[in-house]
Amino acid sequence: MEQLNLFEMPSVTDKWQVQSFSADNFGQQSARMSLEQRLIPIMVVSNEFDRRSVSYQLSKNDCLHRWLKYKEGFSADMVKRLLKEFNIKAGDTILDPFVGSGTTSLVCKMQGINSIGFDILPMSKIAIEAKQSVFDYDLSEIKQLISEIKKINIPKNYNKHSPYITITDGAYPKNTEQEIAFFAEWNQNNNYSKTAKNLVTLCILNSLEKVSYTAKDGQFLRWDYRSKKMRESAEYREQNGKPPLVIRLDKGDLPTLKQSLLAELNSVFADISIIQKNSHPPESKLQFIEGNSLYELPKHDDNILNGVITSPPYCNRYDYTRTYALELAYLGVTNEKIKILRQALLSCTVENKPKIDHIKDNYTALGKEKDFKRIVQIIENNKTLAEINHSLTERNRNGDINNKGVLRMVNSYFTELTFIYAELFRLCKSGAKVAFVNDNVRYGGEVISVDFISTELAEQIGFKPVKVYSLKQQKGNSSQQMAKFGRVPLRKSITMWEKP
Ligand SMILES: C[S@@+](CC[C@H](N)C(=O)[O-])C[C@H]1O[C@@H](n2cnc3c(N)ncnc32)[C@H](O)[C@@H]1O
Repeated sequence: MEQLNLFEMPSVTDKWQVQSFSADNFGQQSARMSLEQRLIPIMVVSNEFDRRSVSYQLSKNDCLHRWLKYKEGFSADMVKRLLKEFNIKAGDTILDPFVGSGTTSLVCKMQGINSIGFDILPMSKIAIEAKQSVFDYDLSEIKQLISEIKKINIPKNYNKHSPYITITDGAYPKNTEQEIAFFAEWNQNNNYSKTAKNLVTLCILNSLEKVSYTAKDGQFLRWDYRSKKMRESAEYREQNGKPPLVIRLDKGDLPTLKQSLLAELNSVFADISIIQKNSHPPESKLQFIEGNSLYELPKHDDNILNGVITSPPYCNRYDYTRTYALELAYLGVTNEKIKILRQALLSCTVENKPKIDHIKDNYTALGKEKDFKRIVQIIENNKTLAEINHSLTERNRNGDINNKGVLRMVNSYFTELTFIYAELFRLCKSGAKVAFVNDNVRYGGEVISVDFISTELAEQIGFKPVKVYSLKQQKGNSSQQMAKFGRVPLRKSITMWEKP
């Protein structure tokens, strides 16, 4: 294991230590500066974790963990390393408040470790159910299912189409819309087992982007030039004498749903065969709750966890409900419901409204008003957060922030995370370790060290900071930030704390 600590490589520490938090020394930065100096000694610039391990890239080739195509996931390899570092054993319990595709839960299951996980997205539930059933599938049933699908021909007079919401309108060719509806109906009405049906749903979910005119691209869905949205926009531009759009997405020939579904099923079938043959982990309990961690965690008992391995949404305006709009619409999420889901997200978009009143109501209903007050006090007394809020307000006044929602997002992000940290502290046993993967961010020329501020808030809750792994590769800035404020690399980190 190669660990380069700062003492060994003083020349490169400058690269990871933030030198200036406020471009052109515009605003106050003393709180951020002193926090940086205080915590930099526990930062470990690590070769052990790299960009691939904190992202989905490594899992892409990993049996089982690649079952839900989820680019925001971290790798199974990273979870394995952390479990080892935390000295977690079969029979222990690990929690992940932001499960996503379920990497933490499934790595735990494969090692006989119990897990508890939460997510608000219905895809998580499908993925977790599909993956945790890996030892229960009847291979001959899946084989039969695959050969039945091969023989399916959609009747010529079939005229239903898949459900859509405003942002997914026209996402598929007409035939594909019918195919999606047909296979959804077929899957509901066939006589295969519940686990087999759920596996088909997972494979359909994984096919939707492939068979559509869309491509997931950072914050948005990009649209193929043949889609309804693009055709209408091209027509509009032409009629109004505007030049045609330059950036065009051309996905080429699209597979049919049947082709893609069969490819997906064959791939998971191969994984199931390998895993059933080669893996025999001890029994463990995997618990998944489809719900909001902010409201669910307070319902759990104290002192139940041996560790936490997680990655919350980053404070980067990334909207999961837009990226996964096709999948959500397939699962029956309506226009109304998608708005509710967006608001339920830990505040990470400029559209998120503060949830503090709901959080308060929840704590009150659980008879935990005292806890609520104590956590609010920690947030209000945190000088670093106050400095950031103040600086962003000043930046906004100065016209340096292109969307005022950023101010609310940043404040709510740390407010909500503090509630999560506080609940995790309560749920952890003494000696339990917590790992959060997160990225630092920058708005209006103001650097926000999510890793260190989180560590400080966690410390104020009672955790002992252990270390902050920082990846060798840092993150760049948006082109607007670079042009206006110059380049400041941003850390990608894994923060680690311990309950004393
Ligand atoms: C970075 S992803 C986690 C990825 C995960 N580590 C994996 O390997 O797939 C963050 C997840 O948090 C979920 N999330 C956001 N807000 C939430 C909330 N309030 N409660 C529970 N989950 C939430 C999102 O739906 C998303 O799946």
